[in-house]
Amino acid sequence: MSADLDRIPLVDLAAAHAEVAAEVEAGWARVLAACAFVGGPDVAEFEREFAAFTGVAHCVAVANGTDAIELALRALGLPAGGGVVMPANTFTATAEAVVRAGGRPVFADVDDEFLLLDPQRAAEASAGPVGAAALVPVHLNGQLAPMGALEALARARGAFLVEDAAQAQGATQDGRGPGSWGPNGIAGTSFYPGKNLGAYGDAGAVVTGDDAHDLVLRELRDHGSSRKYVHTRLGFNSRLDTVQAVVLRAKLRRLADWNVARRAAAARYDSLLANLDGVRLPRTAPGNEHVWHLYAVRVPERDKVLALLNEAGVGAGVHYPVPVHLQPAFRELGHAKGDFPVAERAAEEILTLPLFPQLTAGQQERVAEVLAGALSRL
Ligand SMILES: Cc1ncc(COP(=O)(O)O)c(C=O)c1O
Repeated sequence: MSADLDRIPLVDLAAAHAEVAAEVEAGWARVLAACAFVGGPDVAEFEREFAAFTGVAHCVAVANGTDAIELALRALGLPAGGGVVMPANTFTATAEAVVRAGGRPVFADVDDEFLLLDPQRAAEASAGPVGAAALVPVHLNGQLAPMGALEALARARGAFLVEDAAQAQGATQDGRGPGSWGPNGIAGTSFYPGKNLGAYGDAGAVVTGDDAHDLVLRELRDHGSSRKYVHTRLGFNSRLDTVQAVVLRAKLRRLADWNVARRAAAARYDSLLANLDGVRLPRTAPGNEHVWHLYAVRVPERDKVLALLNEAGVGAGVHYPVPVHLQPAFRELGHAKGDFPVAERAAEEILTLPLFPQLTAGQQERVAEVLAGALSRL
């Protein structure tokens, strides 16, 4: 078996780096020569380029995706203790950002087909005792939650809408990207290294079409200041390092092509796995242009299948094994198993297969073969 089939990683960051290495090294040499490490022209250019890529007027680069969501909620003026409706099956950071912004997570279940926030469940959750000052849909695995219905719900409830677009750089719904929905139009994203657009460390951004929010966000990320030593509000230190902006600019130039490659790889898995009994394939919701941050199938006896894949050198993973409402960190919210059955069942069944732009057809055939072998041993 050829070397690239012996070990197939979940994400191959080295393959992505090989494509941008020359640009990153030249850019970093420039940053080192200037000894200007925070902000500067590279950050400003990256913000312009990422806003244009996303199709919104503004991008405010911040230190990570969790900060992006927190600062977006703060920029909108989330009231203290305000309920924030979000799906139960997300990364813990979505709920963390809400609590840090002074809100109270109000979880809602997802639909069984796409595992995205279910507008009907979100409506029920928002009618509960805590109410809904905001909705935070999560664009899980690379496709947008059903934004038309969620936007309508936000308007009906007089709630803000902040999108968690950490996993959806380049994704659209009916031609619109994150940051263009809802009464206010604002989304947070993460450039954690494994994301479709990944930095070489932590990084994130808020995108918005709203000029006033843009200005507030710029102050919030920089100690409440837009002019040196004038601090108009209590802020944070959540700026983007210049070295990260260099990496992000180099990778952003390739992101559209990388997303096309991810889509082709997802389609190839679809056909390779189509006739495999017991496997439920991920699907794209109507109107969505999916960017396949993750390709997550559902299988019986997931932990056993995962172990067999990993033993055979296939870097499969699970996103996420424990829904947020059952995490000890959120025990004060008083949830128990059974509260959100779709999210809970998904957490037991989902299995993320290797997917990255440079994944080869041969590697995918190997993944499919190992998965078939694992299922035949159950
Ligand atoms: C859905 C989701 N929300 C929020 C985050 C938080 O981003 P970060 O790790 O950059 O703080 C991530 C990524 O880690 C994520 O996948």
